[in-house]
Amino acid sequence: MIMDDVVYDAYREAGALARRVLRRGAGLVKEGAGLLEMVEATEAMVTEEGALLAFPLNVSFNEAAAHDTAMPGDERTFARGDLVKVDLGVQIDGYIADTAMTVDLGDHAPLVEASRAALEAAIAAVRPGVTAGELGAAIQAAIEERGYKPVANLTGHGLDRYNLHGKPTIPNVAMSGGAVIEEGMVFAIEPFATTGSGKVVEAARVEIYRQVAARPARLPSAKRVLETARPRRGLPFARRWVPGDKVEIGLATLVRTGILHPFPVLHDVPGSFVSQAEHTLIVTADGCEVTTR
Ligand code: CO
Repeated sequence: MIMDDVVYDAYREAGALARRVLRRGAGLVKEGAGLLEMVEATEAMVTEEGALLAFPLNVSFNEAAAHDTAMPGDERTFARGDLVKVDLGVQIDGYIADTAMTVDLGDHAPLVEASRAALEAAIAAVRPGVTAGELGAAIQAAIEERGYKPVANLTGHGLDRYNLHGKPTIPNVAMSGGAVIEEGMVFAIEPFATTGSGKVVEAARVEIYRQVAARPARLPSAKRVLETARPRRGLPFARRWVPGDKVEIGLATLVRTGILHPFPVLHDVPGSFVSQAEHTLIVTADGCEVTTR
């Protein structure tokens, strides 16, 4: 598929905005600063520019790899030694840019460099005809040669309109085959490097959800949750975004009845450290254009 100019421009505009906001947001990650304040300030930068978030700003600490964000009234602060992943999604008219970086408040420079180098190696390998498995091999090699493990059960993903999890899936480890990359595809590559097991598991805590069924709810608190969820058009939202009280009951009811899908915080083993780097790109005739650089 060759994209028309309007679509292409929306992806590029979202990418340019995401790049600027990610840099400014990551600059707010400082020892002693509050997580909630940093998250709200960064999310506001997107809406103040007239764009929308593709998902709540993910800020994940240390062994957490993804899907954490500020809780309502969150009192966590950034501390010396923390390794902080900041993952931002911006959408313009449903066309998404997804980009992430890792802020090191400790002595994790080689680990940060591992995911960054893996991302660059994969981007350099993108062209029509290459397979997703080959991109995964480039990621794995770059991380392992620096003495770390790639996180095998997290992947890059296609970005369709209002859809964060389209095709192709880009693994962070070598595999045979996988999707064949084609001109015009838009996807995010997001290597994670870890000092832990190389596999993430789900925590009990859930901050991020998305609506997956259009059924109505009767419970007032569930109705209120759906008022936040519905305008997202299937894109994720944060528990923190739902106003009022009894939000927990509303969320639990909607998950139980299959109306919401939860995204629990994902983490490697306690005491480990995970780094992440991510860009969104459009595949061209002979390579790719990175929208978020
Ligand atoms: Co992503």
